[in-house]
Amino acid sequence: MNRRYRKTVIAGNWKMNKTPKEARALVDTLRPLISKAKWCTTVLRVPFVDLSAALKATRATKIAIGAQNMHYENSGPYTGEVSGPMLVEMGVKYVIVGHSERRQYFAETDEIVNKKVLAALECGLRPIVCVGETLQEREQGVTAEQVTKQVKIALQGVQPENIRKVVIAYEPIWAIGTGKTATPEQANEVCTLIRDTIRGLFGARCARSVSILYGGSMNPENAPSLLSLLNIDGGLIGGASLNPDDFKAIVDAANQ
Ligand code: 13P
Repeated sequence: MNRRYRKTVIAGNWKMNKTPKEARALVDTLRPLISKAKWCTTVLRVPFVDLSAALKATRATKIAIGAQNMHYENSGPYTGEVSGPMLVEMGVKYVIVGHSERRQYFAETDEIVNKKVLAALECGLRPIVCVGETLQEREQGVTAEQVTKQVKIALQGVQPENIRKVVIAYEPIWAIGTGKTATPEQANEVCTLIRDTIRGLFGARCARSVSILYGGSMNPENAPSLLSLLNIDGGLIGGASLNPDDFKAIVDAANQ
């Protein structure tokens, strides 16, 4: 973390979990636990149907609510989709773009991710752009190549003044939901590469201002060492964000 230049962000990604009633109950439990998060921004990324309950339950708190996906068009014949302006009107601040599960199961390409990043910025949402390599890519030694490509395409056409509104999450696919975490060295190496890539595209000042998160089996045990590294500015937490005590412990680690 480097709090001088950029925000520390701890973001829970609930994925497809919790009904609206369950969402309300989880936020009610979490709220007092993380109310003292002074140094970090806490964001809960909940399913679309839970947004209303989560927004209500976090009113007048510092917890921000985010969505897990959006369409790149503002409106139109896209059955089942939700647009950026719809989310903004509800009070949503962040949106995940290009999560590996969407790339894998819903055929989201780098080009679609780029359109979503531009659309999110256009309507005032902060995109959290996920990038990361598969196990096979890591074993083949093409992690750097793959992640650099994803970052470059995702950020094509972003205006330099908007780059600090973008959050990048490095999520090695082999570490998601598997209990296998990247070592702090592996995670920091790729997060540093991501910052270098942003520096190459937008310059040093912009690169310094972007929060880069790590995601993939982050938990209360490994969070302190991952968050102690200069280029890891927070975490994107899946499983552990559904457990109030675990999530609180990770937020506490980010506030040290
Ligand atoms: P886990 O923390 O469950 O590995 O999930 C990580 C993730 O995909 C967050 O977006």
